[in-house]
Amino acid sequence: METIVKGIEGVKQAAEIIRRGGLVAFPTETVYGLGGNALDPEASKKIYAAKGRPSDNPLIVHVADIEQVKPLVKEFPEGALKLMQTFWPGPLTIIMPKSDIVPRETTGGLDTVAIRCPRNQCTLTFIREAALPIAGPSANTSGKPSPTEASHVLNDLNGRIDMILDDGPVGIGVESTIIDLTGEVPTLLRPGAITIEELETALGTHVEIDPAIIARGVKEGVHPKAPGMKYRHYAPNARMSLVTTKLLKEKDYQVSPEERKAADRQIADCINQKTMRAAAEGKRVGVICCEETKALYHTSCGDKSVDLKVIGSRQEPLSMTHNLFRILREFDQDAVDEIYSESYGDQGVDFALMNRMRKAAGMSEIVIE
Ligand code: TXA
Ligand code: MG
Repeated sequence: METIVKGIEGVKQAAEIIRRGGLVAFPTETVYGLGGNALDPEASKKIYAAKGRPSDNPLIVHVADIEQVKPLVKEFPEGALKLMQTFWPGPLTIIMPKSDIVPRETTGGLDTVAIRCPRNQCTLTFIREAALPIAGPSANTSGKPSPTEASHVLNDLNGRIDMILDDGPVGIGVESTIIDLTGEVPTLLRPGAITIEELETALGTHVEIDPAIIARGVKEGVHPKAPGMKYRHYAPNARMSLVTTKLLKEKDYQVSPEERKAADRQIADCINQKTMRAAAEGKRVGVICCEETKALYHTSCGDKSVDLKVIGSRQEPLSMTHNLFRILREFDQDAVDEIYSESYGDQGVDFALMNRMRKAAGMSEIVIE
């Protein structure tokens, strides 16, 4: 099959493809999604096949407004309406009990359904034109970093889907926050740009964090509630390690400017040393740093250049989430063998950033004493 790429002028054709049971990748404010008719079990099966995704990993259903949610759920759990009114359209996915019209193929066999209304005009028009809820996981090959530009989707899925709606690079760059409202206590299943603090404020209650988010990998007895969180994810081809200091960890990254400066220097020294050693072995090394620290890093080792990437500014966490997945894909293209990255904190949006970075690094972190 030939994959057509079109801009917003392609919205009508895209809606037609969905109504015929085909697949269309679409832009959102977080990452590109891979869409099919959420009410058609065959379309959901096609999505799993195109991504190479295990079919027990449920899809997120995208709607254009709150009205469109009603037929998809048994009931609105307490707090659901409040969250939709506060954060939609926007990067929040809400898990609710599903109605009978949502096929189990879409929900990975679960009785619950994940629903979100994305903040992207092109896609909202596309959903309205299709007049259907759109099932859509991230539009990457399973296991690869999520796509933040149409070219990433084309790299992964060219010839396997009917169309890509191209609306340029996304804004946020990491996937939506997921909150589960089907249990006793609202529970965060995946951190994103909407923070736990914002959710607690809107709900006026405590929000639990699914222990699997913080656990080091999937250990025995810690089973993530979002099935997708158990799979290897965002993995670049190179081996990746995060680097931090004992003090930063102990103080939860809440340190004085002097302590911060000293830690930045320690981390850069450690990474520079590792880079030199790897370069001496003939390896190609990638380094991730930020605006605040970039001057501390080597850009070459002997005759070898170091693939130094500035992820963004620590002052603006969304500048860092915006670039992460693009940088991981660039390391793959540049055939980098080893990646070293600074660690950032776990406060606010950084929690979502670090969650993705830890997974990309397979939980490997070097802690300087
Ligand atoms: O920002 C996003 O959420 C993007 C854009 C395209 O909307 N979508 C996305 O989808 O990231 P995906 O499929 O890559 O991630 C969906 C996650 C998976 O971890 C899945 O296990 C979880 O949501 N999920 C979906 N339905 C669920 C349910 N009923 N219960 C628990 N977890 C669910
Ligand atoms: Mg995904």
